Amino acid sequence: MTEADYTGCAIRTMVTRSVLLISALLTLLVIAASADGKEPTAAARSEPHLTPMKIEYPRYFPNLSLPPGYKMTEEGVALGQKLYYDKMLSQGGPLDGNACATCHMQESGFAKTGPKDPPVMPHVNLGWLQAFLWDGHKEGTLEEVMEFEVKDFFKTDLALFRNDKKYTRAFKTVYGDDSITYQRMGEMLAMFLRTVNSFDSPVDKYLRGEEVALSESELRGFHIYNSAAGYCFPCHRLGLFTDKLFHNNGLNAEFSGYDRGHYNVTGDRKDMGAFRTPTLRNVALRGPYMHDGRFATLEEVVEFYDSGVPHSPALDPLMIRPRKGIQLNLTGQQKTDLVNFMKALTDTSFISNPKLSEPAE
Ligand code: HEC
Ligand code: HEC
Repeated sequence: MTEADYTGCAIRTMVTRSVLLISALLTLLVIAASADGKEPTAAARSEPHLTPMKIEYPRYFPNLSLPPGYKMTEEGVALGQKLYYDKMLSQGGPLDGNACATCHMQESGFAKTGPKDPPVMPHVNLGWLQAFLWDGHKEGTLEEVMEFEVKDFFKTDLALFRNDKKYTRAFKTVYGDDSITYQRMGEMLAMFLRTVNSFDSPVDKYLRGEEVALSESELRGFHIYNSAAGYCFPCHRLGLFTDKLFHNNGLNAEFSGYDRGHYNVTGDRKDMGAFRTPTLRNVALRGPYMHDGRFATLEEVVEFYDSGVPHSPALDPLMIRPRKGIQLNLTGQQKTDLVNFMKALTDTSFISNPKLSEPAE
């Protein structure tokens, strides 16, 4: 991989043509229906009121695929955002007093600092994922995992929402009728989360060639990260800073319980001790690190990768670096540079973007 592959700044716009086509068709349907003197369908009636939205991302991100016929709308995103910040989601349930945003905090890159068992995972660029949670035990679409969160994790009391005029009105605007179900809540939360994307850190500015965005130390750290010296890039791939796959990065040499990781999901020996590569975006804003929260700081993480990885048959082959083996033997300065590079993945416009914050009223 060379830097040259990542320069240039074409931001890809994802207007899904089908969205436009479907809106056009629905408009025709409305016209046709009224000409017939028949009641237009509820969905057709509401469609023209909705404002289509596009998801933007840089060209060094992988392609984003959306569910077929997906209609991203400002009204849907606003409803999802309201739900995300609403403690009513947990009222009377096991997580009473929590909203999603209580643990997934914007100022921490939609994760959290502090708790351990397991650490809160960040909500960022989730639209690109197909397997969720540290060990990947939830697979499917973002809509499905969100539905699982409200139904099974929060055990949301739907009656509270069905009796709330603000919500019945908002669901009616989006769906054409005011029925509120776990599925619809999941869909709206997912629509909001599809906008919770980060690609404006100093490292992004550097990749886009926008300006001299990185300090000397951060640049040296980048080269360590992206070469055989540190060999981080094969798993924490540039762009999303995750390959979205499961690896055993050598935290343990023996495995029981939760530490067996993705093996608990697949029963396949090659997944023993493997967890999904976490994105390193905004990594300095959260912690502790790893699925068991064993490292408090990025310095400790780098120390681990440098000299703390035990050999085990389950270790991912990518952890055995070309010409080097398991130990990195970085100098003190190189370790500092690598930490500084990771800190340059902090996206301040993402954590201060009011479009992602708690909505007013
Ligand atoms: C009490 C803290 C807490 C609250 C509240 C909370 N979460 Fe989480 N969330 C976590 C933790 C911890 C994890 C990692 C859990 C794991 O992997 O087993 C997580 C992981 C996730 C993931 C997986 C992310 C990934 O990258 O795979 C999703 C999706 C998610 N949460 C959605 C939600 C939604 C939606 C809400 C609100 C309905 C919510 N969470 C509320 C603590 C919380
Ligand atoms: C073989 C793939 C692989 C390689 C190579 C790799 N990582 Fe990781 N990294 C992972 C996985 C998998 C995890 C999560 C492991 C867990 O929690 O059990 C992880 C976790 C991390 C975390 C913690 C993130 C968080 O949110 O808790 C940091 C920081 C990190 N890696 C940095 C690096 C750096 C720096 C390098 C290069 C020196 C590197 N990684 C090389 C796969 C890899």
